[in-house]
Amino acid sequence: MQSSLLFFQAYQWLASKLLLWYKEHGISNLTGVQGAVNIQGEDQKKLDVVSNEVFSNCLKSSGRTGIIASEEEDVPVAVEESYSGNYIVVFDPLDGSSNIDAAVSTGSIFGIYSPNDECLAEIEDDSTLDKVEQRCVINVCQPGSNLLAAGYCMYSSSVIFVLTIGKGVFSFTLDPMYGEFVLTQESIQIPKSGKIYSFNEGNYQLWDDKLKKYIDDLKDPGPSGKPYSARYIGSLVGDFHRTLLYGGIYGYPRDKKSKNGKLRLLYECAPMSFIAEQAGGKGSDGHQRVLDIKPEEIHQRVPLYIGSVEEVEKLEKFLA
Ligand code: AHG
Ligand code: MN
Ligand code: MN
Ligand code: MN
Repeated sequence: MQSSLLFFQAYQWLASKLLLWYKEHGISNLTGVQGAVNIQGEDQKKLDVVSNEVFSNCLKSSGRTGIIASEEEDVPVAVEESYSGNYIVVFDPLDGSSNIDAAVSTGSIFGIYSPNDECLAEIEDDSTLDKVEQRCVINVCQPGSNLLAAGYCMYSSSVIFVLTIGKGVFSFTLDPMYGEFVLTQESIQIPKSGKIYSFNEGNYQLWDDKLKKYIDDLKDPGPSGKPYSARYIGSLVGDFHRTLLYGGIYGYPRDKKSKNGKLRLLYECAPMSFIAEQAGGKGSDGHQRVLDIKPEEIHQRVPLYIGSVEEVEKLEKFLA
């Protein structure tokens, strides 16, 4: 799948450049805020902007990509005709960016949809731009069940690239010596159950009663005498990667303040749910399969419960 290989190249290039930068400049110029607010209403971090530029430029110059939709772009961007391929690529260039200054794991998430040349009309002049943009939004807003590939790269104690192209989940680890990603795990399977739950319980008072009952149940030692363990680092990629390997459930519920939760369907929830399902797990909004939800707009938020199939189904029973 060319576009996934393209992401390999982007990561390889990005990782080698960042490693070089760290060596030469240290990270002093890469932390902190950019001084702008993105369409999500978040204070953009410098690395939000840098990573968005790196991935956008790499995707645009690849000759494979027709449209890109990013957390850090207000609207989808149609790649200019001379460079454009057809694939539609959605991505969160830097996930967990509130953790950068504390050097806690962060990551990047992407999803690749089938080519759709309907949208790649010539952009003759501004008057057609709106029509092209409108067609781009329509073509980008596809349900996750259409995904051809999805993956993430986690920047942690090691740099780990996880990929699915619909035939299982594979992980690759960056060997900094050679600047290459090497295959480290094939056909990853999420354990069917796991006694780890990953929620921001600071929002507990804002959750509805059924969810509170579920969380209280996890804390009850029960006959085994052992309650669930809580693990939460505030980076979806890091919390999801632990769930993928150890089992358990990650959740970002809706609450009284955010009626659709916080995470974005197109470039966070759907790609992660595709990976979860490919690894024998589940991704749900509490009532339905995330991959069945068709986005109405590119930054649409949905509640997300993802991880071991038995844990997600237990949650869904409490919310029924
Ligand atoms: P992003 O940094 O791409 O905006 O995503 C942050 C998300 C996700 O990574 C994480 O699980 C969640 O925000 C943490 O939110 P809270 O700080 O509200 O728990
Ligand atoms: Mn953000
Ligand atoms: Mn994110
Ligand atoms: Mn982000």
